[in-house]
Amino acid sequence: MLEKLELIKSKVEENLNNINSISNLNDLKVKLLGRKGEVTLLLRGLKDIPAEKRSEIGKIANEVKIELEKLFMEREENIKQKALDIRLKEEEIDVTLPGLPIPLGAKHPLTQMVDEIKDIFIGLGFTVAEGPEIELDYYNFEALNIPREHPARDMQDSFYISSDIVLRTHTSPVQVRTMEELAPSLPVKIIVPGKVYRRDDDATHSPMFHQVEGLLIDHNITFANLKGTLMLFAKKVFGNELEVRYRPSYFPFTEPSAEMDISCVNCKGVGCRVCSYTGWLEILGAGMVDPRVLKNGGYDPEKVSGFAFGMGVERIAMLKYGVNDLRLFFDNDKRFLSQF
Ligand code: FA5
Ligand code: MG
Repeated sequence: MLEKLELIKSKVEENLNNINSISNLNDLKVKLLGRKGEVTLLLRGLKDIPAEKRSEIGKIANEVKIELEKLFMEREENIKQKALDIRLKEEEIDVTLPGLPIPLGAKHPLTQMVDEIKDIFIGLGFTVAEGPEIELDYYNFEALNIPREHPARDMQDSFYISSDIVLRTHTSPVQVRTMEELAPSLPVKIIVPGKVYRRDDDATHSPMFHQVEGLLIDHNITFANLKGTLMLFAKKVFGNELEVRYRPSYFPFTEPSAEMDISCVNCKGVGCRVCSYTGWLEILGAGMVDPRVLKNGGYDPEKVSGFAFGMGVERIAMLKYGVNDLRLFFDNDKRFLSQF
């Protein structure tokens, strides 16, 4: 038995280095050391050997078997290492190659538009105020002189959370919130950028959109101050050759009220499809703060006066960038967004 084992071992030693694949190696290993392998079967013969010799022969036989297993293991390591060396050589990394460019993100066009509007008014001495998007009916409507059941509410149909709480329909509720905070100090000179919500949905109206509110309260503020401020703003955004006009309008929280139009950015006032052949485009609502609103905010309308305005950011961005469908701003299509 021992002779046979030695013979097998020497054959293995002779041939092992000619085996170059793991699967061939495994085949041979199974043939010799597997459950029905030659070596295994030989070792089973131990039980037929007389007891007094069995332990000695068994010990030696077992050592040979362990040596065989070691030979197979070493060869396996060897084959794997060679394969790894070859792979490393093939996939050698050229550290001097330029890296893959990482695409840079950018600010959303509406954020850019809000930033530009903010910059202009900050330059005029306004500060930026904010308010909640989930707003009390009181600040969104009542404090602005729009009582329950007033038909003016129809123009701003909204999402109600309860009978007292709405998603704000405009940034105007921040007017009275800020007045309450600051009264009686002067001036109140704020802009309020933010998201607002209405039950609207078409190419120029979306259920969520952005407004920038403006509010200036001080002694002797007149409509002339309002006009000068807004004119300057419009020229900064749309260019100096732009013209503006005011049309009488109605808001319950301003008196008198107006809407400001700019000469059509597409046809320069000649008349085209963009401006429905009028030559003018509406960009915001404005007016002198209603005495009742001043009172609600804690100011005395006999002593101070103020103006306010509210503009739609999407509308201004559409005109400035020539975008014909407001919904493009919200589709998150990179082909659109990367143009800004
Ligand atoms: C208001 O919201 C007033 N709070 C503005 C105001 C403030 C007047 C202060 C006086 C003093 P209006 O509902 O017209 O007004 O909305 C203002 C602007 O928001 C509109 O000119 C328009 O540009 C924009 N807008 C209105 N609804 C939508 C909508 N669904 N999607 C996108 N923009 C809208
Ligand atoms: Mg309007």
